[in-house]
Amino acid sequence: MIVIGIESSCDETAVAIVNSNRKVLSNIIFSQIKTHEKFGGVVPEVAAREHLNSIYICINEALAKARVSLSQIDAIAVTNGPGLIGGLLVGISTAEGLALSLNKPLIAVNHMEGHLLTPRLVDSHIAFPYLGLLISGGHSQFVIAEDVGKYQIIGSTLDDALGEAFDKTARMMNLPYPGGKHIESLAKKGKEAISFKPPLFGKKGCDFSFSGLKTQVKLKINQIQEDNTNKIGDSALTDQQKSDIALGFTNAVVKVVKEKTINAINIFKEKYKSSYFIVSGGVAANLNIREALLQVSQNTEMKFISTPIELCGDNASMIAWAGIEKLNKGIVNNLGIQAKPSFSLNDI
Ligand code: KG4
Ligand code: ZN
Repeated sequence: MIVIGIESSCDETAVAIVNSNRKVLSNIIFSQIKTHEKFGGVVPEVAAREHLNSIYICINEALAKARVSLSQIDAIAVTNGPGLIGGLLVGISTAEGLALSLNKPLIAVNHMEGHLLTPRLVDSHIAFPYLGLLISGGHSQFVIAEDVGKYQIIGSTLDDALGEAFDKTARMMNLPYPGGKHIESLAKKGKEAISFKPPLFGKKGCDFSFSGLKTQVKLKINQIQEDNTNKIGDSALTDQQKSDIALGFTNAVVKVVKEKTINAINIFKEKYKSSYFIVSGGVAANLNIREALLQVSQNTEMKFISTPIELCGDNASMIAWAGIEKLNKGIVNNLGIQAKPSFSLNDI
């Protein structure tokens, strides 16, 4: 079975072709980062227009790269939320047009479901139920995947998502958007980590909070700028100061992610005998976090599978694969898929 996946929920127009033998035949991603960079974040109307401009180019590229013709496609999978309404509508109407003209099944996929199921695309051993940590620009959640289409969120963020905290911290230091990977490379050059207190550390459960961490970084930057002005008459942060902030921020994140992961694993183990634990989403590309999760998994006898770095961020292979998983379960949609800007995994 060959499925085409379409993802346009945020600032990447992505189309991929994946087969049921877990082979990614093509994975095309048109990033809009250059367009949004100057605004320091995604501008929804601009994003929707860009999706409209690139979606057919992406489809053609995906087919060409996969050496597949439209007539060989067995089904169409598309993200229907959560995300920005304009982008979602572009993806959905394109997918519906394809399904109608090809007379093939249409499958609506929750974007976070795509992230959650991606590890099964690359590792056939991961069996349900399993525990997932989804960390991206919009979400930070611990989810129990009981089966395809049966998910239970057991922890989430009370305020900012982890990726958002990375991006806001980066922005405060004038680093490009999205800032996660820039914070990661700066942290490597950190010598004396600045100490930040991770919010909710030491508290029960597996909810996160990152907004207070961002405020601590802001206050620290203000203080360093004042000191710089007094000492050298120039408030600008030096590269070393930025690196020390990035390292301190990363240390705080790693500390709280480790603690909450242990709590989530305990909750999971109380209910299930399974021992699979996966991480996915854009922030899962961070090597410090991957390393920390591996350590926690080894200490708690969990089998840890981190999503391959190239599939951590938004892509359409994850949507195509989720489509295959759903189709295998007989889950298909009719035309008239609803775009759901706020679409929780609990509501599937
Ligand atoms: O999953 P994703 O591509 O889009 C959403 O669904 O939100 O995640 C994007 C987020 C951004 O906040 C970005 O800064 C973050 O993932 N990110 C990283 C890294 N690479 C991307 N955060 C930390 N370290 C990284 N290496
Ligand atoms: Zn995502």
